[in-house]
Amino acid sequence: MKLKNKIIVVTGGSGLLGSSLIKKIKEEGAIAINADVNCSNNLGANEIHLDITKEESIQSSVNAIVEKHGKIDGWINNAYPRTSDWGKEYFSNESMESWKQNMDMHLGGYATCCHYALKQMEIQGSGSLVNMASIYGILGADFTVYEGTDMKNVSAYSAIKGGLINLTRFLASYYGQFNVKVNSVSPGGIFDNQNPLFVAQYNKKTPLKRMGNPDEISSGVCFLLSDEASYITGHNLVIDGGWSVV
Ligand SMILES: NC(=O)c1ccc[n+]([C@@H]2O[C@H](COP(=O)([O-])OP(=O)(O)OC[C@H]3O[C@@H](n4cnc5c(N)ncnc54)[C@H](O)[C@@H]3O)[C@@H](O)[C@H]2O)c1
Repeated sequence: MKLKNKIIVVTGGSGLLGSSLIKKIKEEGAIAINADVNCSNNLGANEIHLDITKEESIQSSVNAIVEKHGKIDGWINNAYPRTSDWGKEYFSNESMESWKQNMDMHLGGYATCCHYALKQMEIQGSGSLVNMASIYGILGADFTVYEGTDMKNVSAYSAIKGGLINLTRFLASYYGQFNVKVNSVSPGGIFDNQNPLFVAQYNKKTPLKRMGNPDEISSGVCFLLSDEASYITGHNLVIDGGWSVV
């Protein structure tokens, strides 16, 4: 029970990684609050309607959670907003208007969540925040794994996740004085019934010869949120089966 008695918020808690995070956080003894654009406002059932692209939604969600529970011990930025043309084209054919919108919705949304969640943790004098980044925030893309499929790697994603990893470092530097930790987690590709050719090509390149599963990411996030990680801040925990070392 690494997270006993903690109040932990997961943005995008209804999605692939989010639902695993909620399950794992509960198993570790905490109250896990799903803050998703798909949720209704029902803090009695540990869910709240949060749209990370709207500042007033973030501010009112933080206020409502603090009013009910008196504190926020952990916050995971995990929502995944994107425009309808996301992943349809490579850079030369991408709409620059969409590119900017995605930066604003995703990186801007994560930064705004950091702003309000960390402000609360500063008042408390404790807390831990984790930003979900990606291996594509530390590396360029390997286009060979997409060959023969209609899957595409999005340039804005690299900019968003690279920016997020360094924003995490900046925030760790600043909030350390308040006993507040800020880390990021960079997963590799997670198996989600993708095109079998892509999966085979991805597996071949990865030292552990397979894609990850959501629970393997959640356990790393829970470690960073726990008191076992009390001296870890500004770190980017890469969980990728070795993808980034070759
Ligand atoms: N799945 C992967 O392979 C993978 C790999 C590396 C990193 N990641 C990162 O992990 C995080 C979660 O990814 P996922 O694959 O679980 O995504 P997902 O699409 O399965 O789930 C995303 C969730 O975010 C919610 N959401 C969308 N827009 C929102 C908004 N404006 N406000 C609040 N909630 C919103 C959705 O309703 C959904 O429940 C993202 O940051 C993603 O970049 C995923």
